[in-house]
Amino acid sequence: MTDPLTLARPEILALEPYQHAAWLPELTRLHANENPWSDAGDPPGAGLNRYPEPQSAELCAALARVYGVAPEAVLAGRGSDEGIDLLVRAFCRAGHDRILVCPPTFGMYRVAAAIQGAGVVEVPLDHSFGLDARAILEAWTPAVRIVFLCSPNNPTGNRIADTELELLLAGLAGRALVVVDEAYAEFAPGSGTPGRLAGHPELVVLRTLSKAHGLAGARVGAVIADPGIIGLLARMLPPYALTAPSIRAALTALAPERLLRTAERVRRLVAERERVAANLGRLASVRRVWPSDANFLLVEFRDAPAALAAARSAGLLLRDLSGQPRLAGCIRITIGSPADNDRLLAALGELP
Ligand SMILES: Cc1ncc(COP(=O)(O)O)c(C=O)c1O
Repeated sequence: MTDPLTLARPEILALEPYQHAAWLPELTRLHANENPWSDAGDPPGAGLNRYPEPQSAELCAALARVYGVAPEAVLAGRGSDEGIDLLVRAFCRAGHDRILVCPPTFGMYRVAAAIQGAGVVEVPLDHSFGLDARAILEAWTPAVRIVFLCSPNNPTGNRIADTELELLLAGLAGRALVVVDEAYAEFAPGSGTPGRLAGHPELVVLRTLSKAHGLAGARVGAVIADPGIIGLLARMLPPYALTAPSIRAALTALAPERLLRTAERVRRLVAERERVAANLGRLASVRRVWPSDANFLLVEFRDAPAALAAARSAGLLLRDLSGQPRLAGCIRITIGSPADNDRLLAALGELP
């Protein structure tokens, strides 16, 4: 097996990381130029006058437990967006290397590449939004350092077939990182690839607490990968990336009793998704509802601007995708509370 760090930028491998103030919470901190007084109301020892632990060991252990991997295989950052950015900066040389994406898919991969000055190779999903592993392998060149996959995919809602992923992992071994963004994996029971990491050092999995765990406002996500990759990204991460309130919120969300509640909420959202999909499918204004394994639906309307306007006049915002290639007439609808969903169905039901 090849060491995946051979794919990383040499200057990042040689990077001398910033030396943050030592984390020794049992000692009084006169080494980090903090203010000694915190606002009344801060919990003792956890005041916002103090910098947080640079990479919370407790949080990494909790994430590792939930995802079934070793703590050394986990990096906690500001949402999976930060993981995407770190990976592109660590593995793509500006003006030289490329990422590969399979549109229509999540837009941040392309944005991170543009910021880094990396090129983008596109291998579109097939007519039913399936991944074409053979076409990806054909499009690969040595400049392609990262292949970004998304499962379940945003905005199409479907997941990648196991056979295609296996083909890619075999074909790209030693050649490129295969990043599987699993922001919506909890809504697709039985999916999730962290279990495959052992045999595939190039596999990187992105997970987030923003979706199923209901913590989008805390901005906590995880990169799950070979410990060598995690160590490299950790050296690039700003020293106190996650704030103390975010760390506390994440630890609360990952406690066993909260995980049970999360699982129950996921079941309710999935049931709502199926109810909304069935009802939308009966509307005259709807041309097609794509099957979804996520917490949203991709819906093709006969008149997308009219559907957006009807929702807007009921006070509801939807995501217009109709201008994007292959998504003519399409709108992405997030599954909300049953009351929000009823309001939407009523508004769209008025359309001819
Ligand atoms: C596929 C996908 N990946 C990542 C993200 C970003 O998630 P986070 O909130 O963890 O940065 C999103 C957000 O919508 C997403 O759809």
